[in-house]
Amino acid sequence: MNTTSSPVLSMEGVSLSFGAKRVLDGLTFTVQRGECFGFLGPSGAGKTTTIKLLTRQLTADTGRIFLFGRPIEHTSSSDYDRIGILSDTSALYDRLSIEENLRLYAKIRGRGERAIPALLERVGLADDRVTLVKACSKGMRQRAALLAALVHAPELVFLDEPTSGLDPAARAEVHRMLRELKRAGTTVFITTHDMAEAESICDRLAILNEGHIIALGSPAPLTMEHARNRIVVATRTHGTVELTKDARAADAMRDLLASGEVVSIHSDEPDLEEVFLELTGREL
Ligand SMILES: Nc1ncnc2c1ncn2[C@@H]1O[C@H](COP(=O)(O)OP(=O)(O)OP(=O)(O)O)[C@@H](O)[C@H]1O
Ligand SMILES: [Mg+2]
Repeated sequence: MNTTSSPVLSMEGVSLSFGAKRVLDGLTFTVQRGECFGFLGPSGAGKTTTIKLLTRQLTADTGRIFLFGRPIEHTSSSDYDRIGILSDTSALYDRLSIEENLRLYAKIRGRGERAIPALLERVGLADDRVTLVKACSKGMRQRAALLAALVHAPELVFLDEPTSGLDPAARAEVHRMLRELKRAGTTVFITTHDMAEAESICDRLAILNEGHIIALGSPAPLTMEHARNRIVVATRTHGTVELTKDARAADAMRDLLASGEVVSIHSDEPDLEEVFLELTGREL
């Protein structure tokens, strides 16, 4: 990972309300250069709203936000050129082809068109480059929108659910692309509902619930810290026995084994999905 100690962005005690409803409450986190930072949380947790704050589409009620080492209110249009955004409402022109859209985005961003064929190739859209966006499937649109966010080679990208609605092959292509971005030193801020995706791609992540960050860290330690640690033993005549992986389980387990009651022993391998459900008490 190509990180240095300089944060690309950070929030300190950021809160935001819509009317009487507090949507974000005291968010504090830092994203380092070159890091892939995952922002996870149930629907309505405030993920998209956080991206809107970080891209100045909204202003916080309280707290401080820093982007490229400066307070966000002091950032300029040249800082905007260093950022790419894939929002949850894609902004492609329906009446233009995929390629025409990318050319337009390159022009808006003051870039040439040379990178476009390679970008199209990378997400499997080269053969569909002249297809009008209105005739694209959801997955094609999503990949085209991702390319539109990357056409000016930004150093920081905000990706709001970049793989939602994609089939497994297209999803894998996007993952490959994200890994390439990481190798190139691009900082990625990504929201997703896919815990396996977050576990495999993100260097660090935050879990947001009802506007609060309830867990923050690297996927593996965070999973270990919050895992349930269960052993489930199926017995012949006493049904299922649940034990916690600790010293107290040793006696119970020995007795069960000695009695010849044990049919199967299942140990929960902690994963991020389980931790997410445990912490948020909600479905993905
Ligand atoms: N412009 C707005 N006016 C009023 N309430 C809003 C507005 N935008 C978002 N909200 C509310 O803020 C909360 C957080 O919404 P947000 O879109 O950030 O959630 P999310 O985590 O991105 O959810 P999802 O996973 O479904 O995309 C929700 O309760 C939503 O209804
Ligand atoms: Mg959202």
